[in-house]
Amino acid sequence: MQVTNRKGTFELNVPTGWTVLDAMIKADVEWGFSCTRGSCARCRCLVTEGLSLLSEASDAEWDRLTEEELNEGYRLACQLKVSSNEGAIHVIHKPYF
Ligand code: FES
Repeated sequence: MQVTNRKGTFELNVPTGWTVLDAMIKADVEWGFSCTRGSCARCRCLVTEGLSLLSEASDAEWDRLTEEELNEGYRLACQLKVSSNEGAIHVIHKPYF
């Protein structure tokens, strides 16, 4: 998985079943977060590649994000799980502020 934060772009190997936020924490990649339950949105990110290799939007994501954001590929890294490693994934950290 390729991940981009304000410091650059990094390559990570993320096991299936892990959330994107789990992977950032484990790899010590700076990625803002607070609640880890899908309510603060500090972990918000934009999936630019590989959305089909990631989990469907959780109830918490439907509650916190707008339908337009979800359709554009915005997700919450604490909810977003890797379901397959059979392709390229690119996730960019995009908090509101
Ligand atoms: S850490 Fe709060 S929504 Fe993800």
